[in-house]
Amino acid sequence: MAGKIPPEFIDNLLSRVDVVDIVNQRVPLRRAGSEYKACCPFHDEKTPSFTVSPNKQFYHCFGCGAHGTALGFLMEYDRLNFPEAVEELATSVGLELPTEIAFQQGPDNRPLYELMNQAADYFSRQLRQHPQAAMATEYLQQRGLSGEITRDYRIGFAPPGWNNLLQQLGDSNEKIRQLETAGLISSKNDKQYDRFRDRIMFPIHDARGRVVGFGGRVMGDDTPKYLNSPETPIFHKGRELYGLYEARKALKDLPSLLVVEGYMDVVALAQYGIRNVVATLGTATTADHLEKLFRSAPEVIVCFDGDRAGKEAAWKALETALPLLRDGRQARFLFLPDGEDPDSQVRKHGKDAFLAKMDQAQPLSDFLFGKLGEQVDMSTLDGRARLVALAKPYIEKLPKGVFRDMMNQQLARLSGARMPAKPATPARRRSSFRGSRPALMKPIHRAIALLLQYPELASQKNLPRTWMQLETTGTDILKQLLEILQQNPTYTTAVLVEHWEDDSIRHHLGKLAAIDLAITGDQTEQFHGCLQRLEKEARQEAGKQARNKLRPSDMTEEEKKLLRQLYSEKKPG
Ligand code: UTP
Ligand code: MN
Repeated sequence: MAGKIPPEFIDNLLSRVDVVDIVNQRVPLRRAGSEYKACCPFHDEKTPSFTVSPNKQFYHCFGCGAHGTALGFLMEYDRLNFPEAVEELATSVGLELPTEIAFQQGPDNRPLYELMNQAADYFSRQLRQHPQAAMATEYLQQRGLSGEITRDYRIGFAPPGWNNLLQQLGDSNEKIRQLETAGLISSKNDKQYDRFRDRIMFPIHDARGRVVGFGGRVMGDDTPKYLNSPETPIFHKGRELYGLYEARKALKDLPSLLVVEGYMDVVALAQYGIRNVVATLGTATTADHLEKLFRSAPEVIVCFDGDRAGKEAAWKALETALPLLRDGRQARFLFLPDGEDPDSQVRKHGKDAFLAKMDQAQPLSDFLFGKLGEQVDMSTLDGRARLVALAKPYIEKLPKGVFRDMMNQQLARLSGARMPAKPATPARRRSSFRGSRPALMKPIHRAIALLLQYPELASQKNLPRTWMQLETTGTDILKQLLEILQQNPTYTTAVLVEHWEDDSIRHHLGKLAAIDLAITGDQTEQFHGCLQRLEKEARQEAGKQARNKLRPSDMTEEEKKLLRQLYSEKKPG
């Protein structure tokens, strides 16, 4: 709920982020004078009319009217709701979320996060200190992992024994209950015991760096080879990715992310300096996974075993990816030789060979048409027609856009059929302001728009003040805007727009911030002009109230004066 997020937090957040960075990570921008431009991601166009202003911290498309702040952009582009967009932005600048929003939904999970963190610390300490840790250290060395990688990934050691962690952290009944909820201990016949025993421990972090689960590997031949945390209130296998937090932390720029199967693959590649790698946690790649990945990188390369099971899993991943592939996102497929995994490959052939393999990963279009092409006889007309029929449903799952058009064209080439290009559907008009005459705006709207677009206007001396008597929503907002700016003269358009808790106010202010004011001349004069017109409105309002009192004897001296003034204003000259 947006209403619960303190406005000061939003102000602070938007003062720290740069909308140019946020947009540029998703839609590559080009500099154009003091602003940045791109083809609009919200409608089809060939020449760029999407503009991002670093000064205003605001974007605006002159083609379709889309506009907003960094927060608005994330909501629209990444399809997030308001609290999610706030969380995403806060994470990206390392700002701690206020507890009001971090934990507003559902029960308070803070004790669980705290316990998981303590457990991670405990396991990592045991790797260094436990009398029986030698086996674990040796195992890690034998798998080629350095101290640096062990540290970066916070790898630890759960010592042998049934109640090490239980004794360490379970010092009250309450704690024991929480340990069980967190999946760190199990119980049988009312007897509790450690879930992870005598295993190498891999902590799983969420995107914000909190420990949400663990994977534990045996050092010998016990089964299961890997034991994972169960689903808990803070851990959902289908959503989390091992190594994503670490990748984002290690690399500022993530042009692509490689998805592998195992913990060891992630850390082995990291050991070879390939850090843009994540692992799914023993599950197939879900839409949630992919959405998360695309929020961090425009390209996702999914790695599979080259055997039949691997090919089948890859096809499932393709189907999951299709609806998410809007323009600017790319999915590719990397197939490894039978029985090999990235860990074994990078050790055998080295970093450069592995990077070359990643470079040559199969584009989604090749994989799709290749696989479907196998099912038909491409040498006959019938076969090629069947290819079209087979491919259509897949292509239709893609979001409308350039990529989908290109896939249709490729299908046409392959099948030798000429398919009429469907005319692009015209972009939905988002703003009614384009083409409206700004001169016809009400003075209050024009004053607010001017102040939003030129916040420095607030630092003028001798601004008219009597209009402040007007009691309308508009004047109230204008008043508040001036106050905010007088206290925080550096606030940008974006901060001002997002300052309000009320969605509809934010919406209106967003429109006013994007409107083309067609200013000729000096905006200071224009602003004064608007305020003077408001002053006049204020006087007329007061006069109306005076007139409403029937007898002049009921009027105060001041009201009589106002009335006289008003009549004289009405006469020409
Ligand atoms: P693999 O069995 O392919 O192991 O499991 P691996 O990653 O190559 O492991 P090493 O190299 O022998 O150490 C791949 C992934 O499948 C999940 C784990 O997430 C593992 O990383 N898995 C595997 C389990 O969850 N449980 C298991 O018993 C085995
Ligand atoms: Mn392996």
